[in-house]
Amino acid sequence: MKILVTGGAGFIGSNFIRLILSRYPDYEVVNLDKLTYAGNLDNLKDVEQNRHYRFVQGDICDMDVVDKVMDKVDAVVNFAAESHVDRSIGGPADFIQTDVFGTYVLLETARQHGVGRYLQISTDEVYGSIRAGSFKETDMLEPSSPYSASKAGGDMQVMAYHTTFGLPALITRSSNNFGPYQYPEKLFPLFITNALEDIPLPLYGDGSNVRDWIYVTDNCDAIDLVLHKGEVGQVYNIGGGNERDNHTITGMILKELGKPESLIQPVADRLGHDFRYSIDCSKVRALGWQPSHNFEDALQETVKWYADNRWWWEKIKGGEFLEYYKQQYGK
Ligand code: NAD
Ligand code: DAU
Repeated sequence: MKILVTGGAGFIGSNFIRLILSRYPDYEVVNLDKLTYAGNLDNLKDVEQNRHYRFVQGDICDMDVVDKVMDKVDAVVNFAAESHVDRSIGGPADFIQTDVFGTYVLLETARQHGVGRYLQISTDEVYGSIRAGSFKETDMLEPSSPYSASKAGGDMQVMAYHTTFGLPALITRSSNNFGPYQYPEKLFPLFITNALEDIPLPLYGDGSNVRDWIYVTDNCDAIDLVLHKGEVGQVYNIGGGNERDNHTITGMILKELGKPESLIQPVADRLGHDFRYSIDCSKVRALGWQPSHNFEDALQETVKWYADNRWWWEKIKGGEFLEYYKQQYGK
């Protein structure tokens, strides 16, 4: 099987490629990635020599490039996206370009090539916030941020291509991932690396917002299952079942590193900040998936990974990130 993975140099995509290459030694993986600020070939150093793996630098919005890399591809898994909510509030244009238009380019090219399977990697954020209970796949989409609205736009295109053209397409919508190789603008890696450097941890609002955390390889396992066994035209929610508020997560990280709570710095809340995400995952569980990581152990492992792999994040935090951080947090 030959799989085109787009956005494979990012956080989840790189973990997914590693899993596929080790689990299916006869598969071919082509990784098409634009290498935006979030794309990083260091994430795949350990597989770059694998003869079943090929990297192509390119934009999913560029139909010529996409057409070339889709040659003889059996399946497409689209991770490529602008993925950070705060950046979408600062400037939505790139989000609409990549997450909506880029998805269209992939779908249209997949249709022309008669690709056997198209899997769109989406997010629980498309449903919006929920005070009590959990969203099912059939619930209405009510995205709050330009990021989640652009992801919802991509999802709508995917379903339209399935209904109108019969494209064998599926969608996964996962909750918040954490683990190795996550760009340090997101809560887990930002707070872990700041704490390692004794820099304040900017906690939005009163820290009571709730997210459902999933260890990244558990999500990759579920994506693999849906790719091979999911029913086309269907959406599958993938959640870790670990709902925690941000204050609790922050406390756990500090405790793990033996750092003081005085590092927590309450800052202005995110605009339109969704209070709680929660998804019902009975559908993907019925396919045969369940998370294999215990939350506390996975958090411990993740903290240790960033502590042991300063080479990976120190470079990032010294570059483009500094400008972004100054703009975002005024420091
Ligand atoms: P990420 O920001 O770490 O990686 C995104 C990757 O896409 C980068 O390698 C980047 O270079 C690439 N990319 C961006 N624009 C591109 C373009 N136009 N053409 C080609 N490549 C491009 O993101 P992530 O956290 O790994 O998320 C991957 C996917 O999963 C995204 O679609 C995101 O919406 C979704 N998702 C993420 C989470 C999470 O918690 N991180 C949860 C649910 C869903
Ligand atoms: O739910 C899935 C989504 O999870 C994905 O679709 C997105 O790509 C991914 O970025 C993530 O979005 P969130 O906005 O939930 O993740 P983030 O890590 O940015 O923030 C998690 C929570 O922590 C959120 O309530 C905001 C808060 N936060 C975040 C940052 C970066 C802070 O309090 N301070 C911060 O500095």
